[in-house]
Amino acid sequence: MEFNNILVKTSNSISYITINRPKQLNALNSETITELNTAITYSEKNNEVRCIILTGGGEKAFVAGADIKEFAGFNTIQGENLARKGQEILFDLLENCSKPTIAAINGFALGGGLELAMSCHIRVASTNAKMGLPEVSLGVIPGYGGTQRLANLVGKGKAIELISTAGMISAEEALQWGLVNTTCEQLELMSICEKIAIKICRNSPKAISSAIKSVNAGFIDGVDGYEVEKTEFGKCFGTDEFIEGTTAFLEKRKANFN
Ligand code: CAA
Repeated sequence: MEFNNILVKTSNSISYITINRPKQLNALNSETITELNTAITYSEKNNEVRCIILTGGGEKAFVAGADIKEFAGFNTIQGENLARKGQEILFDLLENCSKPTIAAINGFALGGGLELAMSCHIRVASTNAKMGLPEVSLGVIPGYGGTQRLANLVGKGKAIELISTAGMISAEEALQWGLVNTTCEQLELMSICEKIAIKICRNSPKAISSAIKSVNAGFIDGVDGYEVEKTEFGKCFGTDEFIEGTTAFLEKRKANFN
């Protein structure tokens, strides 16, 4: 696969996707969003991949937001379409990915950049990272799911404060807020993400997929997450991985889910 804006490699069951526009602080233009859709869809279908790590190229930014130059002249219809299409082909895709996705936040994660990180299942931030949803300073609001996902992660009060002040918080504050899972020095960021990914790769991919679906179900209006959990729990009993996992336990050996 040839890409202009992202780098993709797979190693030891981990797909590494790097948004690679460092001169623009990895701002998400529409081509980058389409390329991310292709790479994530491919990684999800590829049986060799068990986990996806998403990061930004260079040392300064994860992603500094949607590409402001690209949408500056948009009208209301184009604005709504930008949000609709982006949410559908990237942000919702990531959140509902059947394989765990880890955002390695290596610098600025602003606007669409923080929205991208929040669509991932797990977030690790380096201590130089700065996070915020500064869209109201541009006369617009977060349009890639930020109003919803930030409130889900940190609560309504902190979400409205961060959004309406257009402020930025440090990695340390983000950890206190529950916005990121952990923090580390920038040099350690990839190895910390890989440690998490390696643990994930040892477990049943089918069970992990069911768990993600069940957790996500609890955040969908009108869907009973407990019901989804019961169904997904039942489905696990019909998988080869359930037989392998339980048999391995009873035989006092490590399960092999390859
Ligand atoms: N879109 C387009 N270009 C961007 C960008 C963005 N979101 N963020 C940074 N860049 C570009 C800058 O224009 C600059 O390009 P030039 O060298 O060609 O002038 C280059 O990246 C470097 O940026 P700065 O010179 O501004 O770097 P800095 O260190 O002085 O500041 C920053 C860093 C604080 C992150 C600053 O770049 C900034 O505030 N960026 C915009 C952040 C933002 O408002 N994000 C929200 C975007 S809107 C959105 O995301 C909508 C949505 O939800 C759908």
